[in-house]
Amino acid sequence: MRLVSQPSGSVDCAILTEGSASQSHEDRHWTALQAAKMARRNGGVIILLQSAELYSGLEGLSRTLRKEWPETRTFAWTIPAGAAAQVVGAVQQGYADGAISVSGALLSAEAGVTIAPPSSVPKAKPSVWLITGGARGVTAACGIELARAAGGTILLAGRSAETPWPADLLPTDDLKTLRGLLVERSRQTAQRVTPAEIDRTARNLLAGAEIRETLEAIRETGASAAYIPLDAGDCDVVADVLRSAQQRFGAITGWVHGAGVLADKLAMDKTESELRRVFSPKVGGLMNILAAIDPVQLRHIAFFSSAAAFFGNKGQADYAMANALLASAGRSLAQSLPDARVKVFHWGPWAGGMVDSTLAGHFEAQGIPLIPVDEGARIFACELLGGARDQIELVVGEAWATS
Ligand SMILES: NC(=O)c1ccc[n+]([C@@H]2O[C@H](COP(=O)([O-])OP(=O)(O)OC[C@H]3O[C@@H](n4cnc5c(N)ncnc54)[C@H](OP(=O)(O)O)[C@@H]3O)[C@@H](O)[C@H]2O)c1
Repeated sequence: MRLVSQPSGSVDCAILTEGSASQSHEDRHWTALQAAKMARRNGGVIILLQSAELYSGLEGLSRTLRKEWPETRTFAWTIPAGAAAQVVGAVQQGYADGAISVSGALLSAEAGVTIAPPSSVPKAKPSVWLITGGARGVTAACGIELARAAGGTILLAGRSAETPWPADLLPTDDLKTLRGLLVERSRQTAQRVTPAEIDRTARNLLAGAEIRETLEAIRETGASAAYIPLDAGDCDVVADVLRSAQQRFGAITGWVHGAGVLADKLAMDKTESELRRVFSPKVGGLMNILAAIDPVQLRHIAFFSSAAAFFGNKGQADYAMANALLASAGRSLAQSLPDARVKVFHWGPWAGGMVDSTLAGHFEAQGIPLIPVDEGARIFACELLGGARDQIELVVGEAWATS
């Protein structure tokens, strides 16, 4: 991303052109954020140009920056490949002539779609599904609903190990209680364990238990289920693991991409490593999985994005970009794979998953209702299996835009 134009005059305007296809998504988007920060110092309008030929998340960045920097008007324009010089020239000329001013349409709440929970979910033919991030969090609930409606084989992928529960520990799903039990056990056995080790052990145990619960819930629907430990951001591991999974279970024909992490911080303070951490499961995962399986075999594709990509959200420039990039990939795949039903869910906050009690309180204070887990899961399955084919992007949730 380069700052290519900054005419001085009554309105300053910085036009930032996107980097080239040879750069990684992480590099392009980190450079975009840095360039926007530089441009902000000069005030005025910032226009981010993204190429229609690349998967890009600059819309998510511009919408977030509008919330973080209300005094700086920021826009993302999608332009045909190779058209940057022309667009820059036209804007410069327009400013020089006084013929144009950049106003652009701001998204309003009406741009979103709030979906009522369906009463029934359509049935689908059994197939082999890959659900990245599907063993835990809200994607797990969606996987169970999908299994109920579609059956087949559900492959859940995540980084956590299926750590067994020790026979000498009482079962609990509460982190604080489990830490207490582990401290007590280390006292009894006179083991010296640090608080960090206790916390890590407790989290690993809870992750293992959650994975087993999801597998069991899927099997109870009559579908088959398996857990495949993998880091979606690791290209070699994804290629190896999916090759052997497909040899064992058959070609993957349905893919739900729900893996994601947060590293919230205001754009001015965001570090490159935080952006890379957020991009790794979502964007790295997207590219690694598309490279590891033949996309032509896919009949259903669902990407879990966030309302933050659609409306922007303070502290989530990286997350909004990664999710907006998923949406741009979804739009592109819907065109190139006419046999596939592609859905990008821009979820509002759920009452579960990464929304812990602190975040839930924050949303409550803003009057933003949380999506009940069972309702969200039904909306997901209903839209993916039976929703209108030409409606690729869905915003699910209420009142986000006003926050
Ligand atoms: N909950 C919400 O309110 C909300 C709102 C908008 C969008 N979303 C999106 O919905 C998805 C699920 O969110 P959630 O709330 O359920 O979050 P969560 O509880 O934190 O779960 C995230 C899931 O992603 C997996 N994961 C993370 N990094 C991974 C990696 N590198 N490779 C493979 N798996 C990875 C995690 O498993 P491991 O830790 O075992 O790897 C876990 O299963 C995310 O994409 C999120 O952005 C959620």
